[in-house]
Amino acid sequence: MNDKERVARHAVSRVKDGMRIGLGTGSTANYFIEALAQRCQQEKLDVVAVASSVVSAIKARQLGLPLMAVEQVTRLDLYIDGADEVAPDLTLLKGRGYDLVREKLLARAAMNFFVLVDDSKLVGHIGERFPVPVEVMPFAWQMVKQSLEDLGATAELRQNAVGDGLAITTYGSLVLDAVFAQEIDSRTLDTHLNAIPGVIEHGIFQNLASAVFIGADDQVVERWSDATE
Ligand code: A5P
Repeated sequence: MNDKERVARHAVSRVKDGMRIGLGTGSTANYFIEALAQRCQQEKLDVVAVASSVVSAIKARQLGLPLMAVEQVTRLDLYIDGADEVAPDLTLLKGRGYDLVREKLLARAAMNFFVLVDDSKLVGHIGERFPVPVEVMPFAWQMVKQSLEDLGATAELRQNAVGDGLAITTYGSLVLDAVFAQEIDSRTLDTHLNAIPGVIEHGIFQNLASAVFIGADDQVVERWSDATE
């Protein structure tokens, strides 16, 4: 078993009968979906899942998990997802996939948001390894790009997986991947990005994680946010 699978199995022990659970996107979230489906089958748990992406919805449905539409959700008991970077204060960078908006909505709606990573995701500051994804209204991308450059970033439109065109999100938006030459405080950046017109959402998840479960060296370490500890 690898660290991602180990951490997913650790997280599934937090699921209780009757819960509404948000399902993340990515390889680690996939392990969680599999572990959840297995528990539900073995223990006949009555849970309802909400997917953060079409890919996760398809996987959950294939494994027999009952799903509800995101439109019907106001509160979740639990949201479980991976991340691309985790800073020491548990700020996250997410959004290598195409469903940033849904991921942040589910994270916000959840009583508890548990983040599953291996230790390769731990960074000193946000933006250390990956660009900051900024989802934009298609007609606004040049103006948003200029605003990002004014903040000291270089920003490029994300290409699709094949590399023969632009990446389009589930909602028909474009993604600017912003690289900052200097380390920039994630709180300040979060505030700046929230204030740029034409930005739909961005990949900095500030004050949202209840805990980060880290798989490393065949063990799982839990780091809890000060707010929820
Ligand atoms: C999806 O948009 C991201 O936020 C994922 O949570 C992230 O890419 C994690 O993926 P892995 O679990 O595959 O590393």
